[in-house]
Amino acid sequence: MSTVEINSEVNAKLEHVRATLAREIKGKGDVCLTCSFQAEDVLLTKLGIALDPGVPILFLDTGYHFKETYEYRDRIAREWGLNLINLLPEKTVAEQEAEFGLLYQTAPDRCCGLRKVEPLFKAVANYRVWLTGLRREQAKSRAALEESAMFALPGGKQVLKLAPLAEWTTRDVWYACEQLSIPLLPLYERGYSSIGCEPCTTLPLDPNDPRSGRWAGRKVECGIHIQAAPAQ
Ligand code: ADX
Ligand code: SF4
Repeated sequence: MSTVEINSEVNAKLEHVRATLAREIKGKGDVCLTCSFQAEDVLLTKLGIALDPGVPILFLDTGYHFKETYEYRDRIAREWGLNLINLLPEKTVAEQEAEFGLLYQTAPDRCCGLRKVEPLFKAVANYRVWLTGLRREQAKSRAALEESAMFALPGGKQVLKLAPLAEWTTRDVWYACEQLSIPLLPLYERGYSSIGCEPCTTLPLDPNDPRSGRWAGRKVECGIHIQAAPAQ
């Protein structure tokens, strides 16, 4: 594909995302955007704040992120004037480790439950719409991702969960970030292709699977994208 073709394809995709965001965000309130500060999330954040500079940007601060992620989060938040909401788990890392040891080694589902799923679902329940940077290409577990779907939280509340970048490829994301002069998390330069908490993120183990460096293949999802089962 030539650069001209890539350019027009990505521009068309950008227009589609802007239209979705304009419909959902502008003047509506009750909308939040979850941002891990990976490339797709920062792109969506940039497009979102262009429509509503005050849109709440939710970051799950597990306490286990890379130093580079914290530094980059702080830089982007400052330079873009983000309405950043830093979501903390109930226990600090020190408290959790004193009580349960290194859960990310012994019980990563429990660790993600305490440090990601619980705080996120509690926060998202305050909104009508939840915007994410999820993409189908990221993983087999995301291949059937819908751009727009109702999502059931524990307790029964439903939020409208949107993934405006669902059909985007990694190439599209990188191209758009370059076009929009968005600086990226420096860890990408070191070869990381999917970046979460430091103890659970390595360089990709399989060059054809960008998420193969997450949880060393022990699990594929942290749980925030798995909705509560309907009440019996
Ligand atoms: S996950 O396995 O960590 O959930 P991934 O890193 O691929 O997956 O991120 C997918 C989406 O989950 C992101 O677009 C973002 O909406 C949300 N997300 C993941 N990690 C965080 C985080 N630390 N803070 C806020 N949102 C996050
Ligand atoms: Fe814990 Fe790892 Fe999950 Fe982070 S990704 S919450 S360190 S298990």
